[in-house]
Amino acid sequence: MSATPSPLPSSTTVTRLRAAGCVFAEDEAELLLSTARTPDELDAMVERRVAGHPLEHVLGWAEFHGLHVAVDEGVFVPRRRTEFLVTRAAGLAPPRPVVVDLCCGTGALGAALVAALGGAELHASDIDPAAVRCARRNVTAAGGRVYEGDLYDPLPAGLRGRVDILLANVPYVPTEEVELLPAEARVHEARVALDGGADGLDVLRRVTAEAAAWLAPGGSLLFETSERQASAAAAVVAADGLVPHVVTCEDLYATVLIATRAAQRPPARRQAGR
Ligand SMILES: C[S@@+](CC[C@H](N)C(=O)[O-])C[C@H]1O[C@@H](n2cnc3c(N)ncnc32)[C@H](O)[C@@H]1O
Repeated sequence: MSATPSPLPSSTTVTRLRAAGCVFAEDEAELLLSTARTPDELDAMVERRVAGHPLEHVLGWAEFHGLHVAVDEGVFVPRRRTEFLVTRAAGLAPPRPVVVDLCCGTGALGAALVAALGGAELHASDIDPAAVRCARRNVTAAGGRVYEGDLYDPLPAGLRGRVDILLANVPYVPTEEVELLPAEARVHEARVALDGGADGLDVLRRVTAEAAAWLAPGGSLLFETSERQASAAAAVVAADGLVPHVVTCEDLYATVLIATRAAQRPPARRQAGR
């Protein structure tokens, strides 16, 4: 339903957004106008956007990999660059894969992967109750289940050794750099969604330490990293027995690390004299 006719016609909305520093004021106005159900709701939405709330929190949704994903207040907004991770995951998945979306936030990655594949067994988890509530809306619609807790803790034990695709877009901003993030992230997204510890790799280390035990033979863990952190992240992955492969997308300014569990154990070497 659209909010027109409205006491805030499009040009007024554009002017207010532009005055507040919104670079894409016309595009944002169009989205707000098409999402608001009443003139009052539109006015309230413009107020919140002008006050600095992320557009996706104001709208209550984000577009991600061709999907309309619900995004609740305070929950990490799925970034367009992360679509690259989903595309790479889709290229690796076997038929009817078992997919786990760890640190799922809104659950956008898992939901988008299931949509791209046309089906999968999907499990998602997050430690933040607000993210879990939001993910339930997106992941349940994709036929998946969402659990609340620390990393792998809440997952069903029966998934051990069966996961074909492990998505883990963990927080990776070094603690000292969180304060340098734009206010939309720093103020309006949960700290637990951003802070990756001293070098940004703390959560990742905990994910990779257990990844081989959850992955199926030949299965892959995929996570986003920065260009600067990629070689350190690859070393973490290799130390935990997975084979790292860094892929990048210049258009989306995205760096993704694919960490694969060997398909089978290498044959035991014969010892001399036997
Ligand atoms: C960078 S956000 C990514 C969210 C989502 N994967 C995406 O890309 O849109 C990181 C997410 O990890 C979750 N998180 C942080 N530490 C966690 C932990 N120890 N266990 C489970 N989830 C955690 C946060 O709540 C947040 O939702």
